[in-house]
Amino acid sequence: MATNGVVGERNGVPVYGQFINGEWIEASETFENRNPAKSSELIGLFAKGSAQDAEAAIAAADEAAAEWGASSPITRANILYKASEILMARANEVGRDLTREEGKTLKEGIGETMRAAQILRYYAGEAQQPVGEHYPSVNPTTMLYTVREPLGVVGIITPWNFPIAIPAWKIAPALAFGNTVVFKPASATPLCAVHLVAALEEAGLPKGVVNLVTGSAGEVGDPIVKDDRVVAVSFTGSGEVGEGIRKVTSERGAKVQLELGGKNPAIVLADADLDHAVTHVINGAMMSTGQKCTATSRAIVDRRIAGDLTARLEARIESLVVGDPLKDGTNIGPLIDAKAAERVAGEIERAQGEGVSLLTGGERPETLSDGHFVTPALFGDVDPSSRLGQEELFGPVLGIIPVDDVDEAIAVANKVRYGLSASLFTRDLGRAMQFVREIKAGIVHVNSETAGAEPQVPFGGYKASSSYSREQGKAAREFYTQMKTVYLDPPPMS
Ligand code: UN1
Repeated sequence: MATNGVVGERNGVPVYGQFINGEWIEASETFENRNPAKSSELIGLFAKGSAQDAEAAIAAADEAAAEWGASSPITRANILYKASEILMARANEVGRDLTREEGKTLKEGIGETMRAAQILRYYAGEAQQPVGEHYPSVNPTTMLYTVREPLGVVGIITPWNFPIAIPAWKIAPALAFGNTVVFKPASATPLCAVHLVAALEEAGLPKGVVNLVTGSAGEVGDPIVKDDRVVAVSFTGSGEVGEGIRKVTSERGAKVQLELGGKNPAIVLADADLDHAVTHVINGAMMSTGQKCTATSRAIVDRRIAGDLTARLEARIESLVVGDPLKDGTNIGPLIDAKAAERVAGEIERAQGEGVSLLTGGERPETLSDGHFVTPALFGDVDPSSRLGQEELFGPVLGIIPVDDVDEAIAVANKVRYGLSASLFTRDLGRAMQFVREIKAGIVHVNSETAGAEPQVPFGGYKASSSYSREQGKAAREFYTQMKTVYLDPPPMS
């Protein structure tokens, strides 16, 4: 395993640097990165970046922008292909580190790393696609066409819950389309960011094209969002932080893309294959310990099957093994940190206090007290307008909402602030098509779980979940480029 990004060692613990202008640079101060499943395990010490570091990173990206922007897309594609191969070859080790710092199971950690490699490969391909269109003109000798050009320096601010896939799906298109990057990952998962940037470095990315700064949002995030040289910002994370970014970037006229929360419903109709529905509802709700913005948090269920489905969901949840995510056989790892575990346990208690019936889970297991664990929780008979029915909890908590029919189900599904993803389980084609038409969500599933995103299609939500722009697929081109329309006329022939 390469020791990329390591700039030193303290008591046997690696010290990681920031990557600025092609060099791994040690910071004067560091912060700890601990395993959320075993908080006694210190994974590494990471650079506590300062406003000066952010400034240096922006300056480097700015300096590199002209040459990278003018480089051949084929050159960029080749670097992305190579980075993809490097990451794929390291998927087991990087996936293990992902699990150690984020807490999702090893299978998910390796899977996500492979997904990041696939995203890099996909955008290598995208870099070789046509960059514009050729139009007819009123003047037959005019060559009238469009080209897409890079924006310049983009700021990329990413969350901890997909610590390598989300950075990859922002950075890969940014690079493919000729932009340079200042990248600030979540402080809970800096090691995955180091692995991704190291793969790009080893693939031959010129200096200054990607710069990694780590540390607090206030110290290194704010300067990126505020700097006029950073012409676009892509952010995935909480609504509150997203709002702040929207405000600052729109005031200074920068392009902005926000991917925020979700309160995603899975509707189960009476004619559904219940076994199949249970598997997908549980996976959607509980994998990654429910910490996905695409996670299922509401099971909206036809009253006629609510009893049967509830019993099956309860049994399935109770069969899930909660514990060390590195261990074979574990289904559910910890929450990201102590604060998150306390918050989720607190929300569960609060809902119980409001009289909602907790059918199973919602405990802090004593045997796992060194980690931030909360057992997967199922609530029955949730009032759709209650806090539990409306707010994103970002944890392993599922609420059942019984309804009379598909019309009520869709109405309930839509009556939240968010609109990221939604699922329907049925065998009825007409109802499926009605759901697809009427649901207010950016990602719609029929007979599959609410989470998951393939790289070749657009990703994003309706309403408060997103900012209208879409990530991934060809949609990413819209965000990471600007368009030039060219009227090319020959000089008068003499
Ligand atoms: C997925 O469901 O696999 O932060 C991806 C999130 C989303 C990504 C979800 N932006 O959870």
